[in-house]
Amino acid sequence: MITQAPKGTKDVFPQDSYRWHWVEQKLRDAAEAAGYREIRTPVFEHTELFLRGVGDTTDIVQKEMYTFNDKGGRSITLKPEGTAGVVRAFIEGKLYAQPLPCKVYYLNTPVFRYENPQSGRLREHHQFGMECFGAKGPAADAELIVTLFHALEHIGINGLSVHINSIGCPACRPGYHQALRDFIADALNSLCPVCQARFDKNPLRILDCKEEKCKQVVRGAPRMMDMLCGECADHFASLQALLQESGVLYKLDPGIVRGLDYYTKTVFEIIMPGAREGLALCGGGRYDGLISQVGGPETPGVGFGIGTERILMELDNRGIVIPEPSGCAVYVANIGDDSMGAAFGLTQELRARGIKAECDLAGRSLKAQFRFADRAGAQQILIAGGDELARGVVKARDMATGTETDVPLDEAPAYIASVLRQEA
Ligand code: HAM
Repeated sequence: MITQAPKGTKDVFPQDSYRWHWVEQKLRDAAEAAGYREIRTPVFEHTELFLRGVGDTTDIVQKEMYTFNDKGGRSITLKPEGTAGVVRAFIEGKLYAQPLPCKVYYLNTPVFRYENPQSGRLREHHQFGMECFGAKGPAADAELIVTLFHALEHIGINGLSVHINSIGCPACRPGYHQALRDFIADALNSLCPVCQARFDKNPLRILDCKEEKCKQVVRGAPRMMDMLCGECADHFASLQALLQESGVLYKLDPGIVRGLDYYTKTVFEIIMPGAREGLALCGGGRYDGLISQVGGPETPGVGFGIGTERILMELDNRGIVIPEPSGCAVYVANIGDDSMGAAFGLTQELRARGIKAECDLAGRSLKAQFRFADRAGAQQILIAGGDELARGVVKARDMATGTETDVPLDEAPAYIASVLRQEA
């Protein structure tokens, strides 16, 4: 048992971590190029934040949170999503008093949901997200969608289309809720028990149910995007115009309502083309009421989150191979204990120049060191030892050609640096 990771969690092994780094670097570059700066917030927050922020009728709050009392008797919850914690930090750090918009991103944030583990659905996953506070207009929504779209293209995931919808605002949504209830009322008993409970409190969520019988009931239901107030309709139309201008492919999808309560106006998802039905690669939207709801000043917000595991899964589905970096560029071999110190020192000098260098830590024979160097992909081997070392010289062997060159010990780092530059 103790040598088994908890259900729904995954280790990232050294032979795989380069894929994570590669994806993370692309996402970081895309966010920074768009003027977003990194924010890091704690892995746990007061439970109350999620009850108020995410919404107490959501699956996340009702069924999926990892909540416990700490030793001081406070109710604590491991982040079930990234936005609420960032909003809390925005308020607590008074970022609203700085010039707005405030544009932040988070990378590799662990997110915990007690879900039924299955392909693509983990109990701990990691999210990259971007959040923009203080920008009311649709250009902020468009900037996020376009940045994400191009970041995914750089990662190699192209040919996607973004599903967008508008779920209105407190002015127009109640009217839609009523229209939806009127449409569903006669078939209320055919809904699953969860949706029957949603009927009064949050009928919009019924559109998101994966149960076949609920899907049937809402087929042909009125669409929120047809019942928007003037302001929401203008916002949605301008967003579409901006996406068209940016060449981002999108689809109007009235079924996108999102699983969190804080959204207003724009909501969007990218559905994973190769995965089982409905699995989203990313999701996001506007949340103009959230900051004030959590106790901050009235400030609009918009953002998205994307799971790193799902990005990697999509790369696998498409057979996209990420180039594996070489283990080491130079291996410094010793010929026994007498030359250990020289080899060790030379390795540190190479590393100080930014060169990936390794030496023996396990007392291996010269032959075994060569084998190790070969497996690690070393381009050069420096051999320190014997008479040569006594004369202040090391032997440099080019692994591709087998050519050997004697190099003065103190010139070896500069020699290696220049050889690697030529080979690059
Ligand atoms: P979400 O749609 O719940 O939104 O999650 C965002 C993304 O996280 C999903 O599209 C998916 O890539 C990944 N994800 C979610 N659950 C799992 C899971 N169980 N296993 C693996 N990956 C998963 C949010 O969390 C919002 N905070 C997004 C947002 C940011 N909206 C505005 N700003």
